[in-house]
Amino acid sequence: MLILGLETSCDETAASVLEVENDQVMVLSNIVSSQITLHAKWGGVVPNLAAREHLKNILPVIETALKKAGKKPENLDLIAVTNGPGLIPALLVGTTTAKTLSYLWRVPLIGIHHIEGHIYANFISNKIDKLKFPILGLIVSGGHTQLILMQKHLSYEIIGETVDDAVGEAFDKVARILSLGYPGGPAVAKFADAFSGEKKFQITLPRPMLKSANFNFSFSGLKTAVLYATKKNPENLKDHNYISEMCQEFQTAVTDVLIAKTIRAAKKHTPKTILLAGGVSANMALRKKLELSVKENLKNTTCLIPELTYSMDNSAMIAIAGYYRWKNLKNKKGMEDTWKNMETSASLKL
Ligand code: KG4
Ligand code: ZN
Repeated sequence: MLILGLETSCDETAASVLEVENDQVMVLSNIVSSQITLHAKWGGVVPNLAAREHLKNILPVIETALKKAGKKPENLDLIAVTNGPGLIPALLVGTTTAKTLSYLWRVPLIGIHHIEGHIYANFISNKIDKLKFPILGLIVSGGHTQLILMQKHLSYEIIGETVDDAVGEAFDKVARILSLGYPGGPAVAKFADAFSGEKKFQITLPRPMLKSANFNFSFSGLKTAVLYATKKNPENLKDHNYISEMCQEFQTAVTDVLIAKTIRAAKKHTPKTILLAGGVSANMALRKKLELSVKENLKNTTCLIPELTYSMDNSAMIAIAGYYRWKNLKNKKGMEDTWKNMETSASLKL
């Protein structure tokens, strides 16, 4: 079946066309129009500016996605759109556009939870045959940090989550403290990866909740530790070596905790697959460390990590989640009228 995926929950206007048959996926087009430069001067995403930009871009982006795929609206079998969570003004542009096109083209519409999309980004991979249930998912994004168990498709049990900041949020806040600009995560990662290895400043940060018996996380204190350390000697902020060492220690602290808890959760729940999902899955250190750690500690478990293109916000992940939701629907009759009352996963507690 042919699916148009749409995503406008934050600062990316995205449209993709996917051909999916028997769970085998072909991404015919994947267009992402980023607003990074627009928001950079504000140090973060401004919701109303994002909405205005989505409004300007959404139809050209959809048109380009269809054109690149060589498909016409009448070829489509389904439209899938992110309808939460995210910035409300931004989400409204995507959902209103999707509803209008569904009405106009008489194509069924499905609303997708953004994090469900991130999880299903792993199902675009050509390693789909290795994706076996039960799955343990480590979700790391700007708004979510969770460990979830999936016994089957579209079923989620949260077994641990952050009690304060999400991991991406912590990366962004640390970038702000160190004046590295927006978007913060990639900037912190870049400095961390450039670390020479010489601990000139002897920076050590805590590994919050590493030893706690549950599978929860906490990153707020870690960010505060960075703040206090830099406040003590503000002149260090001018030194690239200091920034690099701080970023490296922060990234190591975060990845140490994320991975230790994932491995411990896996030992308890014995999943067949561990998957990584969310924007922070673009972090190279996390990708490498998780893969290695699964290989070393869990003999019969496959570790899957989304391709970089599908790690960050995109609409191919929304389209593929739409495919599995559609497949799961018992009664598809009358679905051409879903622009009135769309079937949605947005209320999931993910
Ligand atoms: O999933 P995502 O694109 O948006 C949400 O759904 O929240 O995640 C965005 C988050 C931001 O906090 C961003 O700083 C972080 O992912 N991020 C990274 C990297 N690339 C993006 N964090 C660490 N290292 C990266 N390479
Ligand atoms: Zn996201």
